[in-house]
Amino acid sequence: GKSGYDHYMQKEIYEQPTSLRQCLRGRVDELEGEIVLEELADLAVEGPVQFVACGTSYHAALYGSALLQERGIPAQAFLASEYASERIPVGEDHLVVGVTQSGETADTMRALREASAAGAETLAVTNVVASSAARECDHALYIRAGPEIGVAATKTFASQQVALTALACVIGGGDSREVVRGLRSVPDKVQTVLDESTAREVAAEFVDADAYFFIGRHYQYPVALEGALKMKEITYKHAEGFAAGELKHGPLALVTERTPVFALVTGDGEIARKTIGNVKEVEARGAPVVAVTDGQSDVEQYADHVLRVPTSTPVAAATVANVQLQLVAYWVANMLGRSIDKPRNLAKSVTVE
Ligand code: M6R
Repeated sequence: GKSGYDHYMQKEIYEQPTSLRQCLRGRVDELEGEIVLEELADLAVEGPVQFVACGTSYHAALYGSALLQERGIPAQAFLASEYASERIPVGEDHLVVGVTQSGETADTMRALREASAAGAETLAVTNVVASSAARECDHALYIRAGPEIGVAATKTFASQQVALTALACVIGGGDSREVVRGLRSVPDKVQTVLDESTAREVAAEFVDADAYFFIGRHYQYPVALEGALKMKEITYKHAEGFAAGELKHGPLALVTERTPVFALVTGDGEIARKTIGNVKEVEARGAPVVAVTDGQSDVEQYADHVLRVPTSTPVAAATVANVQLQLVAYWVANMLGRSIDKPRNLAKSVTVE
């Protein structure tokens, strides 16, 4: 049942501290500051890594490929429906990672089968034990989020992020202490967001908006895409996520005083500074700005609303900040009386190409 929550989606959002702990259990060597993924003991990565996935899982894949690139490993994320091994160079030296909550998505399964036929090693990052992806791939990494009933992927996205972070440490090698520290603190930080979020007030203020825009850079770019996908699928309203730097290459023309812009600004480095530059651009056009921030930078100065998150490592900040966007989408949909757990036209598992 829904254990007192109004919707499964809400329950699953609130379950995240628990599901994330479950994902990390036994995988973090506290003493050595190392990640251990026993099920991948015989995984040897010799060459480039390709991710294939759809929807929310594709956003996790984009994040996963950024994590590997940061470690000097050539990596790329593909929409599974756009992946065709006869067009995309793939061969025996490649690892192809299918990111799929259900393990049954037709487009992702086809991409994995094509990659396997081309001689690539395959890995399923999935939530469902013995799913098609888990059975057919050479390796499986389970995200252990527990069953997700709501059509909107929430806790599974967070667990994909954490599992892919662990995977990047294992594949990338090197010193993972900072990442491990960040990972271990994610469940508590997500709990803090759940306890203190003002997303409901932000949702009430903007429930009548014409459209919702989300901007972020680097690890927060996939989060901007995910924030927009969650908003459109459960509220049926127009939402778009952009790499913050792309705004002035077109989307800025859409920005008005009726289109709130959610800006993901964590940390106080170069990336935050550049996104703040974009925040000033939308503010100058009269758009309401909602900053999702840990307060490290001065973005609040330019924001109409702040959704506060605890300070985290840059990698962990993407999981923590995303929870605020899940809550905003949930509350807007709730106020609009939408069918939150079963949005129109959508299915939990898409088993046709
Ligand atoms: O089961 P999968 O992760 O392969 O599903 C892929 C997408 O259909 C899925 O992530 C979808 O975008 C979400 N349910 C949206 O919230």
